[in-house]
Amino acid sequence: VPAGRCVVAVDGPSGSGKSTVSRRLAAGLGARYLDTGAMYRALTWAVLRSGVDLTDAGSVAKVAGEVDLRIGTDPQGYAVTADGVHVEKEIRGPEVTGAVSAVAAVPAVRELLVARQRQLIEAAGRIVVEGRDIGSVVAPDADLKVYLTASETARAQRRSAEDAADVAATAADLARRDKLDSTRKVNPLQQAPDAVVLDTTELGIDEVVARLRELLTERGVA
Ligand code: DC
Repeated sequence: VPAGRCVVAVDGPSGSGKSTVSRRLAAGLGARYLDTGAMYRALTWAVLRSGVDLTDAGSVAKVAGEVDLRIGTDPQGYAVTADGVHVEKEIRGPEVTGAVSAVAAVPAVRELLVARQRQLIEAAGRIVVEGRDIGSVVAPDADLKVYLTASETARAQRRSAEDAADVAATAADLARRDKLDSTRKVNPLQQAPDAVVLDTTELGIDEVVARLRELLTERGVA
C-alpha cells in the first residue's frame, strides 16, 4: 500500500454498516480511522454530566467550548475521553443515544467538531472517516466518498443485535434519530452528489470492503 494521502468519507444512517466497513477498510489500508459519531456522543456525555438544559443551545455550546475532548484514530481500538475521563462505554448507553441528536443539531457544536475533525484528518493523511456529513461538509475533497444505505428492517436488526435490545424498540429509535439527523438545519445527513452509493441490505461486509478497495485502486489512490 503506497504511503500517499488518502481520505475516504463514509456517510449513511445508523445501522447501514458504516462502522464495521470503515474500521475494516482502514485496517486493510494501513490507514487511521475516525468515528465522528463518537465525538458527538462524547460531547453529549459531557453535556448530560454538566446538567445543563439540552434544549438550551447557548448552554450546550458553552459546555462544548469548555470540555477537553480527545479521540484516538487506531482502527483496532481507540480511546475517547472527555476532561480526561474515559467514556468509551458510556457513549454507547441509552442516555447518550437518546440525547445525541439534539446536541448534534446545535450549530456551534458542529462548527467546533467539524474544525477538530479536519485537524485530525490533516494530521493523519491516510484515514477513513465515518459520519453523516463527511463527504458533504467535513472533507468535500475526499479521494472517495461512500454513502451506505440498508433497508430499515436490516438496520434495526443489526442495531438491536449490537445492543442486545428489542428489534421493534430499536426500529422506532432509529426512525426517530434518522428523522432528526436528516431534517436538522445545519449539516444534515446528506448524500454528496459525487458519492458512491452502496446498499448493504444484501451485501456482506467483506463484499462492501472489497468493492471500496477496487474503487480506490481504480482511482489510483490506494
Ligand atoms: O453514528 P452514530 O450513531 O455514533 O452517531 C451518533 C449521532 O451523532 C447521530 O445521531 C448523528 C450524529 N452525527 C452527526 O450529526 N454528524 C456526524 N458526522 C456523525 C454523527
